Amino acid sequence: MDIVTSIQDMKTRSAGLRSGERSIALVPTMGFLHEGHLSLIETAKGLADCVVVSIFVNPTQFAPSEDFTSYPRDRERDEALCREAGVEIVFHPEAEEMYPRNYSTYVSEETLSKTLCGVSRPHHFRGVTTVVAKLFNIVRPKVAVFGQKDAQQAAVLRKMAADLHMDVEIAVAPTVREKDGLAMSSRNTYLSTGQREEAAIIPRALETARSMVEGGMRSTDRVMAEVTHLLATKRRVRVIYVAIVDRDTMEAMREVVPGRSLLAVAAWVDEVRLIDNLLF
Ligand code: PAF
Repeated sequence: MDIVTSIQDMKTRSAGLRSGERSIALVPTMGFLHEGHLSLIETAKGLADCVVVSIFVNPTQFAPSEDFTSYPRDRERDEALCREAGVEIVFHPEAEEMYPRNYSTYVSEETLSKTLCGVSRPHHFRGVTTVVAKLFNIVRPKVAVFGQKDAQQAAVLRKMAADLHMDVEIAVAPTVREKDGLAMSSRNTYLSTGQREEAAIIPRALETARSMVEGGMRSTDRVMAEVTHLLATKRRVRVIYVAIVDRDTMEAMREVVPGRSLLAVAAWVDEVRLIDNLLF
């Protein structure tokens, strides 16, 4: 496995792979890898000839009040996990090269990114679309793999790729969960044992919603009310949003349509912001 830090080296490696007719699957990450990332890598292996994992804690997707500085980082462990997982190249760019002092160009999706997480994190998706567009230009993958846990991110990136005629397929791999049901996230490391116990209400509330819909319930108001009620039973949990939206457009739905509806939740567990979702 090779570790590439310079943008020019990554472009040269990518051109070499493509001229040898080897397709590339890119797994963009911010590092501190967990089982969820490893499952993205497994999915990627099945979609192209070689896997490139990018590791970059992207400053432009964090607001000044957010956890950019404290975001967990462990470069050596990440590289060891990638090696074990059969990754061909880890691309580990430097912030100074990605965003030099005179940097001034951003990519912004203007519709899907404005709802759900876009309301409370107004600049977040602009940072994500910008860095992912840059990574696509550098790595030139045939396919890029993202997690279902970040369903809105995947929808926004798919829209960006279509709107900007990018020759890249956006693949989405299922959410991987901890034993207590909590969706895997690097931010779970912030949770104390007590917070962790209360956070487990999030996947439990989603499961209740699933049962309601499987039992025939189609009123999104009723499903959202039940999920909100369950989350409110925990003292440390504060709801940011509970929404049922079209999985592609992120538009609110009045009725659950199995195969199209996405139940998305964001909540604070004390000072830790968690998101999760469920496709009906
Ligand atoms: O999902 C993430 O980890 C990040 O948002 C991504 C896609 C790597 C962009 O920085």
